Amino acid sequence: MPGGPEWGAAFAAASTDAMSFYDEIMVPRLFAPWSEILLDELKPQRGQAVLDVACGPGTVTRQAALRVGPSGRVTGCDFSPAMLELARSKTPLDASAPTDYLECPADSLEVPDDDFDMVTCQQGVQFFPDRRAALVEMRRVLRPSGQLGIAVWCDLDTCPPFAALGRALGQVLGNETADAYAAGPWGFGDSNKLVDLVTESGFINVQVRRCELPVFFEGGPDQLMLTLRAASVSTVLAQLSEDRLSALAAAVKDATRPITFDGIVRSHATSNIVTATVGDGKV
Ligand SMILES: C[S@@+](CC[C@H](N)C(=O)[O-])C[C@H]1O[C@@H](n2cnc3c(N)ncnc32)[C@H](O)[C@@H]1O
Repeated sequence: MPGGPEWGAAFAAASTDAMSFYDEIMVPRLFAPWSEILLDELKPQRGQAVLDVACGPGTVTRQAALRVGPSGRVTGCDFSPAMLELARSKTPLDASAPTDYLECPADSLEVPDDDFDMVTCQQGVQFFPDRRAALVEMRRVLRPSGQLGIAVWCDLDTCPPFAALGRALGQVLGNETADAYAAGPWGFGDSNKLVDLVTESGFINVQVRRCELPVFFEGGPDQLMLTLRAASVSTVLAQLSEDRLSALAAAVKDATRPITFDGIVRSHATSNIVTATVGDGKV
């Protein structure tokens, strides 16, 4: 069954148009609020250097730059040219750190050893083909006093709007499509496996916290359905007839009925947040 790495490859090949759906619909409703939670856990200090891995359109990158301020330094890296184009097109927030963006895969970071005080990675790890190599890279680039913060969605059923999309996909396009959808962003929801991954990559003081945040789609089920344009299933949707697309829209409306109030989809999403440190033992 295709999973996170296949979805990751879809990001790498995606057009800027497709990623604009991610940036305009998903970032303000979902990823921007979560970036504050991740940074609140890490508490970056003025003047620190932060690397944001799998930065996408700069969601955490830009907030980190604000928090470390002009005396700090922030780098965002991602392997998707479309995501990086969106990130670079944004005006820096006032009084934020100088920020640069690099195109590189997470398991081969093009930055020197011991160069950062903090590494963040929000909703990226589940997509990496070699998660262990990526975590080892994150440790390599951190200073001995460095901190790591990563966020990975819990299982699909803990994120009801997207579980509803999964059910609708299954109904109209079959179980294989629904299973591939669930195995993408929500395919690494086991907190024990996440903690093991971080620990086995050489980090210490590994802590995991499960958090839930509200999510709203004020444009209702149709707006929620637009998030599929930024998903790996978008290539399948692009080939559907008008009739099948209407059937999918009707199935999404049905599946979201229990979480739709006055036309607004109101629900929550759940993520594991892991923090860890390099400690003094870096060799
Ligand atoms: C769900 S988005 C999260 C983006 C961003 N962190 C945010 O919070 O908006 C996942 C990101 O992971 C990136 N990605 C997936 N696999 C990758 C890999 N192997 N190396 C680098 N980036 C990767 C994608 O290009 C995409 O930008």
